[in-house]
Amino acid sequence: MSTADPDPRIDRDRETVRVELGPRSYDVVVGAGLVSEAGRLMAPLLAGRSAVVVTDRVVAGLYLDATLDALRTAGFAPSHLTVESGERSKDLATLGGVLDDILDRGIERSTALVALGGGVVGDLTGFAASILLRGVPFVQIPTTLLAQVDSGVGGKTGVNSTHGKNLIGTFYQPRLVLADVATLATLPLRERRAGYAEIVKYGLIDDPAFFAWLETNGAALLDGDPDVLRTAVAHSCRAKARIVAADERESGSRALLNLGHTFAHALEAEAGYDGSLLHGEAVAYGMVLAHRLSAALGLCSEDDAARVAAHFRAVGLPSEPDALPAIRWNSAALIEQMKHDKKVQGGRMTFVLTRGIGHAFLSRDVPTEALAALLDQAFGE
Ligand code: GLY
Repeated sequence: MSTADPDPRIDRDRETVRVELGPRSYDVVVGAGLVSEAGRLMAPLLAGRSAVVVTDRVVAGLYLDATLDALRTAGFAPSHLTVESGERSKDLATLGGVLDDILDRGIERSTALVALGGGVVGDLTGFAASILLRGVPFVQIPTTLLAQVDSGVGGKTGVNSTHGKNLIGTFYQPRLVLADVATLATLPLRERRAGYAEIVKYGLIDDPAFFAWLETNGAALLDGDPDVLRTAVAHSCRAKARIVAADERESGSRALLNLGHTFAHALEAEAGYDGSLLHGEAVAYGMVLAHRLSAALGLCSEDDAARVAAHFRAVGLPSEPDALPAIRWNSAALIEQMKHDKKVQGGRMTFVLTRGIGHAFLSRDVPTEALAALLDQAFGE
């Protein structure tokens, strides 16, 4: 792009990514300082000025006051409610409490819900918005790296069930996403790393040049370099917007976003959702396994699989089982978990495999023997 013809949607500090979904289209704004502008940016998109901010205890202590101030300044009458931090809040009991609490306030269909927090708050609030009064508007203000580059964009909402993760939910798009990269400064390094795994995923799916850029810039990103962070978050949101626009309800290509996730969900279920293995950590190792499985099936080179593992090792994400929680991993139990994944169709597991870095594809033809051999090699029989 020439400097004489600047794209008005891009300025030095801020970038707007459009998620093109016809009447459900919306912007994802990426930049620093967006929390303090939340009301001004939301106001033109909403008919009413009533808003309920849903957040968790940790984020409330950091960004709730600034969000409420920003809403008031723009003429909103905001209230808020706070859930406990952590994956355990993503359940039907918490959802029921949130719904009752919001209904107790006497809301109308024009009342907006504002999800201020990470993936748990975003998924829970989006689900609540999709079913309250048969649908009220909602806005995402994701404050974790993982939520900014993945869960906050694309309209998947929901809670976990005793049967597994994310089994109860809806597709329901937000009106706006504000990815304020300044909020990442308070994010613990471990959480930043976990979000980083989902950034790497976009390179591995179909963007080898982005993967190479991350090999060079990943360490600076994790150190919190603001320009690198903004560039990587915006690039990831563009990738996600493109994939979601092509297949909003995951009838085909959106499933590529599940690269590494069939393994990851099984690892997380076996680890027990107790915080010992974060989703992004499981996804990182899951992507290593997806590349090793692809190499074992003769689809990609061993060098590609080794390159992916080397990058995760270099940035402190798991690339080998010894970096996972020290439980008795068992390959048969992991395969059993994979058989309960919601992507199983006609009894066949879905995997995202690859023909090389940036060349991922969907497969339902993974021989169980190849899978068992890979996991036996990793974890022992
Ligand atoms: N996180 C995967 C998706 O949004 O489809």
